[in-house]
Amino acid sequence: MTGITDFAKRHGFIWQDGELVNWNDCKLHMLTHSLHYGGAVFEGLRSYNSKIFKLEQHTRRLRFSAELIGYSLPFTDDEINLACQEVLQANGVIDAYIRPVAWRGSKAMGIAHQDNPVMMAVAAWEWPSYYSPKKLLEGLRLRTSVWRRPSPGTAPVHSKVSGLYMICTMAKQEATDAGYDDALMLDYRGFIAESTGSNIFLFMEDGKLHTPLPDCFLDGITRQTAVELARVRGIEVVERHIAYEELTQAVEVFLTGTAVEITPIREIDGYTFTPGELSKTMIKAYDNAVRA
Ligand SMILES: Cc1ncc(COP(=O)(O)O)c(C=O)c1O
Repeated sequence: MTGITDFAKRHGFIWQDGELVNWNDCKLHMLTHSLHYGGAVFEGLRSYNSKIFKLEQHTRRLRFSAELIGYSLPFTDDEINLACQEVLQANGVIDAYIRPVAWRGSKAMGIAHQDNPVMMAVAAWEWPSYYSPKKLLEGLRLRTSVWRRPSPGTAPVHSKVSGLYMICTMAKQEATDAGYDDALMLDYRGFIAESTGSNIFLFMEDGKLHTPLPDCFLDGITRQTAVELARVRGIEVVERHIAYEELTQAVEVFLTGTAVEITPIREIDGYTFTPGELSKTMIKAYDNAVRA
């Protein structure tokens, strides 16, 4: 994201509650319920050559995220899909990141969400790659965070809700402050979970691709795509709980996510991996899928 200064000071259009408004006119009040209590739900999508990848799936997940924390979106799936497309066109962006968000408004304050109206907005901006091209070729370095993914009994772990990102922002900041590219997060039991905004896959010495069972974190849409892409290529995929110590048996490791796409890892806490044929195959397969 080089060259970006203040996101609030950009130019263009944002879709807000049913209409396109000037970028600078998209505002919300400081007494917005979700700002205080972490109840905004959001999505991150990418468009490739103006076509939004897995648009319907992301919109369905946005609705699911809202319903899990107790509110309904005030627009239909078709209206939200159209809003994403309108924002792309209005801003003239082609290879872009799209951010729909819904939140509880400012009609009532207090912890109970009461009858606050639900508001929505969608923004889009040009965003070629999450990591620099050099990093993509070399692979990333991760450090395990002290912050762990919570249990399903502690938080609505399958909702893409802003409150759950507080630990991700701390984990990522700690890792980058220490010179790493991102953090590995374990779950509340100590199993390998994911990174701060992406899922993880490990190609093990047994010749199979292993990925943690998403029972307390997001089952990413890119993760699901990667599983399908690997299986149709005859690569066996095993979804299971993975102990941290199993990093010693990993040959290649990569992250998957809408923002990071498929990005190889070369080190986690001193354990090293060599991005090789498997990573290259998956990167190419994903690139073909998003541009199909
Ligand atoms: C915490 C977290 N895990 C995983 C993912 C990957 O999800 P997806 O592939 O749907 O982008 C994301 C991105 O949304 C995320 O924020």
